[in-house]
Amino acid sequence: MKIAVLPGDGIGTEIVAEAVKVLKALDLKFELEEAKVGGAAYDAHGHPLPEATLTLAKESDAILFGAVGDWKYDKLDRPLRPEQAILGLRKALGLFANFRPAICYEQLTHASSLKPELVAGLDILIIRELTGDIYFGQPRGRRVAPDGHFPGAEEAFDTMRYTRPEIERIARVAFEAARQRGKRVTSVDKANVLETFQLWKDVVTDVHKDYADVALDHMYVDNAAMQLVKAPKKFDVLVTGNMFGDILSDEASMLTGSIGMLPSASLNDKKQGLYEPSHGSAPDIAGKGVANPLATILSTAMMLRFSLNQPEAADRIEAAVKKVLAQGLRTPDIHSQGTTKVGTRDMGEAVVKAL
Ligand code: NAD
Ligand code: IPM
Ligand code: MN
Repeated sequence: MKIAVLPGDGIGTEIVAEAVKVLKALDLKFELEEAKVGGAAYDAHGHPLPEATLTLAKESDAILFGAVGDWKYDKLDRPLRPEQAILGLRKALGLFANFRPAICYEQLTHASSLKPELVAGLDILIIRELTGDIYFGQPRGRRVAPDGHFPGAEEAFDTMRYTRPEIERIARVAFEAARQRGKRVTSVDKANVLETFQLWKDVVTDVHKDYADVALDHMYVDNAAMQLVKAPKKFDVLVTGNMFGDILSDEASMLTGSIGMLPSASLNDKKQGLYEPSHGSAPDIAGKGVANPLATILSTAMMLRFSLNQPEAADRIEAAVKKVLAQGLRTPDIHSQGTTKVGTRDMGEAVVKAL
């Protein structure tokens, strides 16, 4: 089994180092190969996703990804910006199904910015379509506005689009996932305004006919954003498009205590996967040794379960994470009175010990 290790930028290098320690401590036979990606790759090779990195990713059974991006690259032409690396990997490998589970561990009910009773026992799964939508739709660009309120003015435009097969396959992923858990799917759309999401709603409704054992409801994205902080435990599986899923998953991360707790898996139809925390490179705390590595460590558990066929090892990692939380160890983002504040490395090493 070959794992491509792509730490990336900012806290990416710090958190991936801890996840690699955890992987190595499992005593399983993996080949780990590291490569540069994002701003680090741009600095070294002039491109955020060099050919060698892409080839390594394609040849691997799974990819462990940290994060990419830094403000210092914001002025580069878009194709050279670090974020293009993760978008390019998702597209090149066909990683259309993004799983973002938001679980509030018992020990962290007080770390959330919401009242503990709202999040205690929370276990929801956001399934985000990852290779379509306004993220990839063409045409896009800048031009002189040909019409509208200010004809002749500088204008920018993007295109939101989905095809029926793209919606069908992500809907199936959501219904299959719901079958393994609470048997309820909420499809999140904006069908009241957008043609793209009327098609989304129609297709999800059609696919649902094959899943009579799963309950389906539809919710507009603005309402879903509100319900997620009003009564998050009412949800089981949410399925939505690329952009709504991006926004709602960051919102949902606070239900777990911190964005530093939210892992993710991005899968294609061959179950090859890219595993990364849902958060970014956090330039504001990079290099300080304080980032929470648990989202990345929990992403490796998802990797073992989904791509490497090692469910027991995945269970061991998740149990170890619960154990260190029970020991009271907390990085600053989840720290509260009566717990012990630790840095990235101490947290990673505690998980290794707890294995
Ligand atoms: P971010 O997720 O990097 O950070 C948002 C906030 O959360 C910051 O205050 C940060 O300190 C905090 N945070 C994030 N991860 C944390 C962790 N593990 N432990 C503790 N605190 C954590 O989002 P941003 O600031 O909007 O973006 C920064 C850069 O990251 C941008 O260049 C953005 O494009 C990029 N980004 C990359 C990915 C990715 O690689 N998949 C994801 C999101 C953002
Ligand atoms: C994420 C990130 C990415 C996204 C960016 C960095 C391209 O925010 O993985 O959630 O928008 O998908
Ligand atoms: Mn995001």
